[in-house]
Parts: sequence; C-alpha cells; structure tokens
Amino acid sequence: MEKQVLNSRSSDFGLTNEVFSLFSDLIYRASGIRLTVQKKNLLISRLLRRLRALDINSFYNYYQLVKNDHSELIQMLNCIATNTTRFFREEYHFKFLREICIPELMTKGARFINIWSAGCSTGEEPYSIAISVHEALSGYRYVKPEVMILGTDISTSAIDFARAGVYEEDQIPEGIPETLLKKYFLKGVGENSGKIMVKDFLKRMVQFERLNLKDNIYPLRRDFNIIFCRNVMIYFSSDMKEHVISRFYTHLVEDGYLFLGHSEAMLNRKGFVPVYISAYRKVKT
Ligand SMILES: C[S@@+](CC[C@H](N)C(=O)[O-])C[C@H]1O[C@@H](n2cnc3c(N)ncnc32)[C@H](O)[C@@H]1O
Repeated sequence: MEKQVLNSRSSDFGLTNEVFSLFSDLIYRASGIRLTVQKKNLLISRLLRRLRALDINSFYNYYQLVKNDHSELIQMLNCIATNTTRFFREEYHFKFLREICIPELMTKGARFINIWSAGCSTGEEPYSIAISVHEALSGYRYVKPEVMILGTDISTSAIDFARAGVYEEDQIPEGIPETLLKKYFLKGVGENSGKIMVKDFLKRMVQFERLNLKDNIYPLRRDFNIIFCRNVMIYFSSDMKEHVISRFYTHLVEDGYLFLGHSEAMLNRKGFVPVYISAYRKVKT
C-alpha cells in the first residue's frame, strides 16, 4: 500500500485515508491509542504544526520519518495525546481518598503510602492527590507514614510541565478554599501574575516519569496502595484495556484501590470488586 499512497495527495498535506491508516496503525502499536477515521481532522490539526516546524510538506513523508526515528515518534505522541485535565477533577474520588482510603491505611499502621497516577497529563491529578493525602494526614499527630506519589504519562511535554508545577490561577476550581490555596501554592507576581506555583514541600511528595502503558513491563520499583488511571483508557482498544488492567492488578498491593474515570466502569472484572463510583478494590483471584 505504501507505494500507492505516495501518489495520492490532498490539500491536507496528503492525509488521504490510506496515509491516515498508516498513522493510526503506527500510533496504535506505539501507544495503544485507537484513532478511528472520524479522527482524521483531529490528527491533521494536531500534527500540522509539527510538519511545518520540520519543513515537511506531506504526511506521508512525515510518516516515513516517524516510522524510522524513535525520538520523532515520541514527539508525535506528544502532539497527538489529549491532555485535558484539571485540579480535583471528579472530586468524589479525592473525598473517598481523604475519608476512606487514608484513614483505613492509618488504622492498619501503614508505614508507607504509595499512590500512582497513571496517565497524569500535566500534573493536576497527582498534585490533587498529594493535597488530599496531606490534608488527611494532618489529623494524625504522632505517626506519619512516608508518602510517595508517582505521576506517569506517555507525553514527555506533559511530564515536563507537571515537574515545573506552574499553572494559570483560573485553572483552580472555584470551590477550593483560600486557606488551602495559600497552604499549597505560591502566587505569581510581576510577570508571573495570574499564575500559581505548587509549593516545594508538595512537589517533593510527587515524582514524575515517562511511562508508556502499552509497554509489556512497567519499570516500577514498588507496589501501590492506590492507582488512579482516569480518562486514559477511553482512548484504548479493549485488548489494550485488558493489557493495562492486568498490569495494574500485578502492581497493586492486596486490597489496593483502583480509580477509573466515570465513563470507564469495569463490569465483572475478575480480581476487582466495585467499592464506589468507578472505584475498585483488588481481591484474590
Ligand atoms: C485526558 S488525560 C487524563 C489526565 C488525568 N488522568 C485526568 O483524569 O484528568 C489522558 C492522558 O493519558 C495519556 N496517555 C495516553 N496514552 C497513554 C499511554 N499509552 N501511556 C501512558 N499515558 C498515556 C495522555 O498523554 C494524557 O495525558
């Protein structure tokens, strides 16, 4: 097919259906993200700027480059990933974390609390987790467990943004009290006015790494009490979802919690029982 598509050009830098399917296969193999032909315009809008920056005048030529160049493949995945997120998105999960998960771990005498935000985008989710855990632990005076929150994403640009921890002030949801804002964020002044920055002590609770959920082996150094993977698997095929869920099962401790996005409910999945709105608990199989 590749020879045939060489000659087919359209005004969209040659993104014919054939070239589109070369991209969608490549993207699926590289990330598990399934792009149907309805997403053709989306692909054009997300990649056109990259083609222009590289002075490449057709999608087919860009495909040839990406196919053979791993670092360009990573750049392409940065461009196509949907990074929409916000602080305290689906607030009920953070309430459940504060009021149920953390007190339960404290009752069990946990010395370590490990939480993974898989598909963390630009960091709003893992920082919201860090604030929730910090607030929940403030009620315990004497014994404080060591907390480690890991944020991972396929997108290196999202991870860089997350590490910097600088956001537009209007990205903070209105319901967050001023006292919490003051406790966890610094307000920008002068040329940074309108921006807020995550305070250092909160940043130290969170580590960011690139991790592709499509990989066979996840390079994780510990198991997790809680995994958040919300609004990530909506873009995956059912095989890919199964691939990811089975790895979450492996990397969760006994009784660990898994939080999914509201539209990603799992029905009768062996090894997980529903405990709350799109929240599950690992059980022995
Ligand atoms: C819509 S955002 C969700 C962010 C956050 N979890 C939330 O609910 O607000 C989806 C994220 O999944 C990431 N993603 C997509 N495919 C991935 C993969 N194969 N491995 C890791 N992350 C992936 C994207 O880069 C994007 O940042």
